[in-house]
Parts: sequence; C-alpha cells; structure tokens
Amino acid sequence: MKKIYLFANWKMYLGYRESQKLAMDLSKKIKTLPKNIEMVVFPSGLSIDKVKNTLPKVGAQNVYWVDKGGYTGEISAKMYKDMGAKYALVGHSERRHQFNESNEDVNKKMEAVLSVNMTPVLCVGETAVERKKGLTDNVVGLQIKKAYENISWNGKKMIIAYEPVWAIGSGHACSAVEAEKEHMKIRELVNKLFKIDPVILYGGSVRPENAHEYLSSHQIDGVLVGGASTILKSWVGIINIAKSI
Ligand code: PGA
Repeated sequence: MKKIYLFANWKMYLGYRESQKLAMDLSKKIKTLPKNIEMVVFPSGLSIDKVKNTLPKVGAQNVYWVDKGGYTGEISAKMYKDMGAKYALVGHSERRHQFNESNEDVNKKMEAVLSVNMTPVLCVGETAVERKKGLTDNVVGLQIKKAYENISWNGKKMIIAYEPVWAIGSGHACSAVEAEKEHMKIRELVNKLFKIDPVILYGGSVRPENAHEYLSSHQIDGVLVGGASTILKSWVGIINIAKSI
C-alpha cells in the first residue's frame, strides 16, 4: 500500500484557542488513521505544545539556526525539539519571499534542524515569472543543491515539498501532470547527488476537490496543505481521499 504524507501548514491563520479547538475536533473526527497515512500538523509556534497533546505529530513552521542567544523574537530548532516538534518546514516560499530568506539561510536552518534530530521538510518552488522564463528546473535545482550543501545524510529520510510560488494560496493549483514532471526531475537530481530516493510532496492550493489527482500519482508521495488544512471539513475531506487510495 502506498505511504501517504498529509502535512498541514496552519501558517498564521489560527490563534492559540482556535488551534486547540481544531486539533480536538480533528481528533474526534479521525480517531485512528491507517498505518500508511502519516499526518503531521504545523501549528503556530505558540500552539505546538497544546496541539501535540491531541495530535502528537507536530512540526515547526520555521526555525532559527543558532541554539540560543540574543536573537529577540526568534525560536531555535533546539527549542522546538525540546517542545516536542518532530518536523520543521525549511525555506517555505512565504519565508523566502516575504522575509527575504536566502538559500544560504535555508542551508543553515537545514543543518540546525538535522543537528537536533528533527526531520526537515525542504520547500522549493519557482515564481510565476521564473516559470514563464523557463527557469523552473534551474531555480528548484539550485534551491535543492544549496539547501543540502555540506550536509551528510546518513540514511535519514529526506522530505522535499514542491510548491510553485504562484500556486500557493492563489486557488490556481499546478496540475498533477505538471507537478509530476517536476517531481521526476527532483527525484533524479536527488538520486544523482545523494543516492537517496526522497519523499516528495506537492503543495499549492490543494483542496478536497483536487486532492485525488495528486494523491493517486506514483510520483507524488503526499501533500503540504495550507488554507484547506485549517478548515475541519476540508482537511477531513482530504484525509478521506487519502484513505480511499
Ligand atoms: P495553500 O498553501 O494550500 O494555502 O496554497 C500551501 C503552503 O503554503 O504550504
């Protein structure tokens, strides 16, 4: 049976109480998940501690790479680990584009996450302009090479989320056929560079209406979902589609 990853990025949509409520409602609705489905929730940093009591697989949306020190407002990978986060998103497009995160920053974050034995989820993807210019493969390839520069893998699980920037939060999802093409190229590159077969998720305007086309594809191991994962009905809808595959 195909292993399916369902990752829910709650971004900054839900406050402390709202996060707690959604986690409770979700746990009542889903009770147990089949073994082949791995669901991880990425609540805001403030809510991780509470959410993990209800939904134990939680992750950080972002980390800082220094363990501790005078970095007002930042939270380190080590601190998230201490709080019980098992995963961390690294290089999400909203971090890259709204907070000017560079490939070098992403590389430091990858190292920090791996050093505390959390699983990083590297997010990559091209902008609409880059796609128009035919630069998708170059941009995504460089993001991957830079993110993993000087990092040794030692058999750890490598998870990459392909999220075209133009598809995120826009309602204009990349078709499964287009996403598959890019996933194949990412897989080839990672195989060549690290001799690893990575887990590759698709992200960008995934909804219950289109989730089946992604989740049923052999090239797509799961989805990273923003908006639709913050609405009980939509997220349960996506989970039910995964269960039916
Ligand atoms: P979206 O976000 O599902 O709201 O498009 C996806 C993401 O940013 O991971």
